Amino acid sequence: MFVDTHAHLTDKAFKGNEDEIIKKANDCMVSKIITSGFDYNSSFEAVKLAERFNGVYASIGIYPENVSEFEDVESKLEELAKHDKVVAIGEIGLQYTEGMPNKEMQKEVFLEQIKLAYKLNKPIVIHCREAYGDMISLLKENRQYLTGGTLHCYSGSYEIAKEAIKLGFCISVGGVSTFKNAQNVKEMIRKVPIENIILETDCPYLAPHPYRSKLNMPSYIPTIAENLAELKGLTIDEVAEITTKNARRLFRI
Ligand code: NI
Repeated sequence: MFVDTHAHLTDKAFKGNEDEIIKKANDCMVSKIITSGFDYNSSFEAVKLAERFNGVYASIGIYPENVSEFEDVESKLEELAKHDKVVAIGEIGLQYTEGMPNKEMQKEVFLEQIKLAYKLNKPIVIHCREAYGDMISLLKENRQYLTGGTLHCYSGSYEIAKEAIKLGFCISVGGVSTFKNAQNVKEMIRKVPIENIILETDCPYLAPHPYRSKLNMPSYIPTIAENLAELKGLTIDEVAEITTKNARRLFRI
């Protein structure tokens, strides 16, 4: 069996077809899915969806683009985070691309949510783009609050991955690792021990090759796993067994 550790099942692309998408995933041996929020509303929706389905869990948090709402929703978010089906705080993190909220505010909200995860003893799911240096410094400076977690959709260097692993993090491997032009990501994944890797789709985005640019779904996890098996010189059964064990340990599911 497989775990899709990061999906957006509440996305409008799946609206009305959730049952079918989840059944399709189960038919493809993807028996557990963590659906992720990125602001308060999507987090709330993720929890509602997780309540409806066995094997679906929620990860909740305010990600970089939405940090300006944090102050207003902080206490509601904390209440929601105590729900049994909430297995992680995220996506949270830093994104320094153009048009994003200012860096200081992003760092502050990231840290507040790391502390929330610490308080509730749940792992974190990190979203990071063009901010890897600041991300790793912030994690190191606040290591007393770390509860483990994962670098979701990670495409940075092996050096940063190695430091994150030392801090108790996993590396999430998704569709990008199957792209023909993603040589750097493939090289990085070859060096990361399989014991520190989990699988994700980040659907409906980033469908793996040969479905690239189509609608991504949790049922594509075996395609990502097959590619990972090739990169690591393992069988797909070994990849399934080890990444599932890693995910279940990390998220306690
Ligand atoms: Ni995502």
